[in-house]
Amino acid sequence: MSVTLVSPIDTLSAAPAGSEPLSVLGVPGEINLDYAATAPCARVAADAVAALLPWYASVHRGAGALSRRCTLAYERARQTVGDFFGARAEDHVIFTRNTTDALNLLARALPPGTTVVTFGGEHHANLLPWPRGSVRLPVPADPAGAVRALDAALAELRRAAQPGLPVLVAVTGASNVTGERWPVAELARVARRHGARIAVDAAQLAPHAPVDLLALDVDYLAVSGHKLYAPFGAGALVGRADWLDAAQPYLAGGGATARVGAATHEVTWAVGPARHEGGTPNLLGAVALAAVCDALADADRAALHDREQRLLGRLRDGIAALPHVVELRTFGPDAPRVGIVSFVVAGRDSSDVAAELAREHAIGVRDGLFCAHPLAQRLLIEAATRAGRRDLPPTALRASIGLGSTEEHIDRLLAALATFA
Ligand SMILES: Cc1ncc(COP(=O)(O)O)c(C=O)c1O
Repeated sequence: MSVTLVSPIDTLSAAPAGSEPLSVLGVPGEINLDYAATAPCARVAADAVAALLPWYASVHRGAGALSRRCTLAYERARQTVGDFFGARAEDHVIFTRNTTDALNLLARALPPGTTVVTFGGEHHANLLPWPRGSVRLPVPADPAGAVRALDAALAELRRAAQPGLPVLVAVTGASNVTGERWPVAELARVARRHGARIAVDAAQLAPHAPVDLLALDVDYLAVSGHKLYAPFGAGALVGRADWLDAAQPYLAGGGATARVGAATHEVTWAVGPARHEGGTPNLLGAVALAAVCDALADADRAALHDREQRLLGRLRDGIAALPHVVELRTFGPDAPRVGIVSFVVAGRDSSDVAAELAREHAIGVRDGLFCAHPLAQRLLIEAATRAGRRDLPPTALRASIGLGSTEEHIDRLLAALATFA
């Protein structure tokens, strides 16, 4: 049986040649420059959901043909997502709701006494779940500074901490405020040298660049499907099995158990991903995410990257040419980055600007402090100093791009920003 998706208009013509499965859905006339919050749904994800809908049935809970097919689709999705992110054979791929959920799950699975080391530039999802006693390093001036700071902090921890207690480094792959990429491979090398583990918040990196656990020698990875061109409600935590299998289940309930006895609390928990996936899983979300992973694995990622970098360059050059608009950045202007730019319009409230962009120009951007308050507030002060201006607002704007973005979208934003002078 086939189901036709009643589809909004897609931006197929905007997608690079030869990448139709990765064209994205959208609404004509609406310019979405807010991919970093939630990316539009890829055609391939919508098609995968539509194809599975007639088979809608339970996962891991039924003997019927429909149920068996759904169970198979769910486990295949797990395999695909793991393969896409370079999971080691012994790693777990645990489906979660999103990156926040994945990092909270990891936080709950930490062995007692674990010290977590982060940087102050992280999204709240990678700042707030960690236990008391975690170490938050200052935001460095450049990627090399991050590596040096981590090296020094881990050396100090090794001297001060009780021997044998685990240390986990938790860093972002790319900043959701500035798009700047963090030196994940180098940080992983430093972590390894000091006997620490490393988790990467790949919410913003994965939609823009290949992320491979094995190649990076990273222990854990967290991603959100809705930032990766799949619908809401599916994410993943991928990584080492031992802490996860030893931890209390993240969600106690059906599906997470191997055996439950009559006595109160007489329970043997499952090992493997099921231990942390209590309750009926989000089959369609997992399958949609896997469909995008498959399509990206088949795509020419270098060509997609080049295309995005050209658009990003156009956007940043255009912003730099507007004297009343100031970009936010942590590292130098030429640091590698993904398609995200945050900025302020001098003398204008950012939420007013965002509302006017939507109302007058049909352009959607984000405004605020982007769930990274410590970093955004710091960068706003830095931007005012760099630009020598006292009229910058207390919150910022963010434009972010991806597969469906075009030169016309960028030019329309720049033209609209020019009217705020
Ligand atoms: C870097 C980063 N980490 C984590 C998150 C949290 O993602 P989610 O809201 O999908 O859980 C975000 C969301 O913007 C993000 O940008």
